[in-house]
Formats: sequence, C-alpha cells, structure tokens
Amino acid sequence: MPYYRVSGEIPKKRHTRLERPGGGLYAEELMGEEGFSSDSSLLYHVHPPTAIVKSEALADIAGEARLAANHPLLPRHYRTQDLPAGGDLVLLRQAMMGNDDVRISFVTADAPSELYRNSTGDEVVYVHAGSLRFESVYGAIDAAAGDYVVVPRGTTHRWIPAGGPAGGLAGVPAGVPVTALVIEARGHIRTPRRYLSQTGQFLEHAPYCERDLRGLAGPLLAEGEDVPVIVRNRSGLTRLTYAYHPFDVVGWDGCLYPYAFNIADFEPIVKRTHAPPPVHQTFEGPNFVVCSFCPRPLDFDPLSVPIPYNHHNVDSDEMMFYVGGDYTARQGSGVGLGSITLHPGGFTHGPQPGAVEAAVAGLAEGKTTTDETAVMIDTFRPLGLGPAARRAEDPEYPWSWARAARR
Ligand SMILES: [Fe+2]
Repeated sequence: MPYYRVSGEIPKKRHTRLERPGGGLYAEELMGEEGFSSDSSLLYHVHPPTAIVKSEALADIAGEARLAANHPLLPRHYRTQDLPAGGDLVLLRQAMMGNDDVRISFVTADAPSELYRNSTGDEVVYVHAGSLRFESVYGAIDAAAGDYVVVPRGTTHRWIPAGGPAGGLAGVPAGVPVTALVIEARGHIRTPRRYLSQTGQFLEHAPYCERDLRGLAGPLLAEGEDVPVIVRNRSGLTRLTYAYHPFDVVGWDGCLYPYAFNIADFEPIVKRTHAPPPVHQTFEGPNFVVCSFCPRPLDFDPLSVPIPYNHHNVDSDEMMFYVGGDYTARQGSGVGLGSITLHPGGFTHGPQPGAVEAAVAGLAEGKTTTDETAVMIDTFRPLGLGPAARRAEDPEYPWSWARAARR
C-alpha cells in the first residue's frame, strides 16, 4: 500500500503496552507481507485475535468451478445480464475466467456476506452498480458504482449491500442489488511501480495519487462471541469460529490496509494519435494488469484515427468489461453495457468494420470526446473459461467482424 495511515488509539512506540481501561492490555497483531520484509500494519485488539473454538470444512462451489480451455480458439462475448441474480459477494461469485494467477468472477448480490478473508491473495472488487458497505478489522468503506475496493490478503471483512434484505444501510430501500466484478489474485495487487517514487510517493505523471485513495472510517468495535469467519486458503474454504468478534480493533497504523479508488478519479492520459492501454493502467498483479478506460478527449491530430487499431498482443489474453458510455469501436457487434469480452492471444482483434470510418467522420463533425468507460484485465497466461462464462455466452460474436465486412 502506498502510504502510512493511523486510526484510533495506538501506543507511542511499536511493541509497547497499550492498557485497556478496565485493566489488562490490548492484544497487538502484526499483519505484514513477504515475511516481515514488505508493507505491514499493527492492530490493537480488545481480545486475542488467535482464539478459535471450532473449524469446519466448507463446500467451495465458486472456487472449485472447473475452468475449460479456450479451445477451439475463439474471441468471446458474455452478457452478464444473463447471469442469475441473488446471493452474497463471497460465496456466490460466478466464475467467468481464470488461470493460476487470477480468477475473475461476476456477482449480483442482494444479501450481506458472512465474515470472510482470502488468505491466498489480494482481491479487488469493482462495483458496477448499486452501493454497499465494506466492513473490516481496519474499519469501514462505503462504496458505490465505479469504486475499486482493494482488499489485502488476509483481511477479515464482510460486504453489506445497501438496501439488502437484512443488515442493509439505514435509509436505503430494500432490494437494490449490487453487481460487481471480483478480481482474486494469487499474490498482491499493487499500484504500478512506474507511478511511484523510490520511497513510494505517487509521481506527478501518475494518473491518480494519494488524494484519490479513500481510506477507512472507524475502527469498528463489534460485540459478539462464537463468531464464524470463512477463510480461503490454499486447501479450500474453512469456517473458523472465533471466541470473540474479530472487529474489536481500537486502533491500528501502517501501510497495509484496504482502500477504495473510484474509476472517475482516474485522470486519462491522451496523445495526439491513439495511445495504447498502458496509459490506462491502474493496478498490477502477478502476471496481469488492470486498466481503466475513462471519458477523455479524443486523439486530436487532424489525421488521427481516434479508436484502437487492429492489434495482436501476442503475449496476452485481454478481458474487457464495458461499464459506461458509448463504446464506438464495438458498435454493431452486440457488445453493450454489462458485456464482457475476451480477446485471447493467438487472435487479432480490432474495431468492427465501419467503426474507423464512423469515428473519422465523427471527428470531422466536431466530436472531440468519448464517454466510454471500461475495466480491462490483461493476463500473461491464458485464461480458462468458467461455468458462468459458458452460461452467458453470445455465440454469434466470433463471426461479427466477418458478418459486417461482407455486408
Ligand atoms: Fe484490445
């Protein structure tokens, strides 16, 4: 995480006593990455964070979903609107695609999740629609459409959709579902290194900075005994029951914590002629990147072609989630808001036939901006296809370029 934050009550020095009002000491816990050699935070609990009373194996429907190879090789288009709704943001994730580095799921949630932590890697939840509250041992974040919520590995948390049937946010009508794209890494998801100074400050050329990252309200203090927490580790899912509620932190400090970043706070970088996706990069993970395509001025050279050229990015599979605005390059393909496309390595993809001419004509008629908004994930290992992808597939998409070209 980029920089130091402090919340609540902490002692003046690390690893010294913090006394509880009625006697006794708060229990100190270090959460740290890479074996004491990277970012960490120190949390101070009312109760020992170690006190478990039960452990049960849990069926892992989403996690065990088999991924099928993209064979025979095809570009793919999925309509997330065709996926079933309901459930929570942890156990009812619908696996779209994945590989050994990352798993990408879609979820429509109308119920609060149980307490959960993923001990196999960091997660980023991109909220597509609706609003929700993220609660964790560090505190709470209210999130809404356009927010990326970054959750470090091992963070105990839960998701509460606003207006869900139980436990929803006060004053919000019931029954407003949250739709979200869930990115689960097998490692850490971080700010691209090239955006940061040697000591971790965002540089001037970065498309976002510390002021755009929303921290946590809190800390939270919840009462409760025998509280279950779902834990994902390398063996699957376990429900661990804790003697005391894990949200019992009176203070913490450090550089490791969840945060939110809204896609509308990404400052697009534009060129006179078309700029490639690295200018849109938002996060990096193990063998993958996440990019944000945001409303921006169109390329402004008088002879520019203001949409992407055909490209064959030979080392990557490219997933695109279309979340807002008008995506000119895809007109006539069936792709719309809520669509996900997969353009795999081995296949050259590009604008639909006629889109280049339409974009050039638009420029001549004075169209100087685009309002397209999309989240892209490029992976350096091939993506397998999950059950949800098979369910939501548009079988006509692979032939859409030829269909339009022959018209
Ligand atoms: Fe592409």
